[in-house]
Amino acid sequence: MNPTCKKRLGAIRLETMKVVAQEEIAPKIFELVLEGEMVEAMRAGQFLHLRVPDDAHLLRRPISISSIDKVNKQCHLIYRIEGAGTAIFSTLSQGDTLDVMGPQGNGFDLSDLDEQNQVLLVGGGIGVPPLLEVAKELHVRGVKVVTVLGFANKDAVILETELAQYGQVFVTTDDGSYGIKGNVSVVIKDLDSQFDAVYSCGAPGMMKYINQTFYDHPRAYLSLESRMACGMGACYACVLKVPESETVSQRVCEDGPVFRTGTVVL
Ligand SMILES: Cc1cc2nc3c(=O)[nH]c(=O)nc-3n(C[C@H](O)[C@H](O)[C@H](O)COP(=O)(O)OP(=O)(O)OC[C@H]3O[C@@H](n4cnc5c(N)ncnc54)[C@H](O)[C@@H]3O)c2cc1C
Ligand code: FES
Repeated sequence: MNPTCKKRLGAIRLETMKVVAQEEIAPKIFELVLEGEMVEAMRAGQFLHLRVPDDAHLLRRPISISSIDKVNKQCHLIYRIEGAGTAIFSTLSQGDTLDVMGPQGNGFDLSDLDEQNQVLLVGGGIGVPPLLEVAKELHVRGVKVVTVLGFANKDAVILETELAQYGQVFVTTDDGSYGIKGNVSVVIKDLDSQFDAVYSCGAPGMMKYINQTFYDHPRAYLSLESRMACGMGACYACVLKVPESETVSQRVCEDGPVFRTGTVVL
């Protein structure tokens, strides 16, 4: 085995975590609460690589950490049923266990922000969950948090109330069935504040918009998705190109999933 892989495997943390609770919070969207020692090491913006408890599915499924409770060693994940793997996760209930690898990825850089700073959070659809822990941690430090969320329609709206505990929240829906009609750009273009940092996670179109709008911002971050296999930097299934380079690439699982705007090709 190549020495880099060996080193990586040595550092990988695997744990059988306990399912504390599971609830359907919106149609086909579930909130899963897991408990285990791994919570100690978790940071906002990282993800867990979950083994599907069915031998027919070999690849793990990556799901972002939505909130972290180190005191009770619990974390929350929020996911939408997309296919077979997530459908099987949705059948888990209290007392079941889940084979978890993680926490994976770099997470959001929340350093050096305090009550003198103001940040913008931008989330879309099932990309909203990892922003909850960001909002919670920054609010504790007195940072002013403004959040703009975009959803397809009223049924898809999640975490509005939870995020509103930490600052002002604007909600947009594509069809206008809830909040402001349109996408997040309708709100963002009219915000006249200067933001010290921008944290975002959402569908590819939204990530392209944030990347372009805040391209040169020194602290604007995108949390990106990519199809993954190993989830730990070894297989290069998840790579993105770097601007103006034919040879350098970035692995979403290991170098990301959080990247500064302007640093990867979307
Ligand atoms: C870093 C990261 C964080 C994520 N966080 C969340 C989250 O918090 N909540 C949530 O609902 N979803 C999240 N996703 C997407 C989630 O991983 C997929 O929806 C899930 O893997 C689908 O699995 P499935 O078996 O239900 O679907 P299937 O379509 O049957 O999956 C088939 C294969 O494709 C892969 N795949 C399918 N869609 C995606 C996708 N969008 N991204 C990566 N791999 C995919 C699966 O992992 C699996 O290997 C995240 C993806 C990444 C990369
Ligand atoms: S999924 Fe294997 S390197 Fe990222």
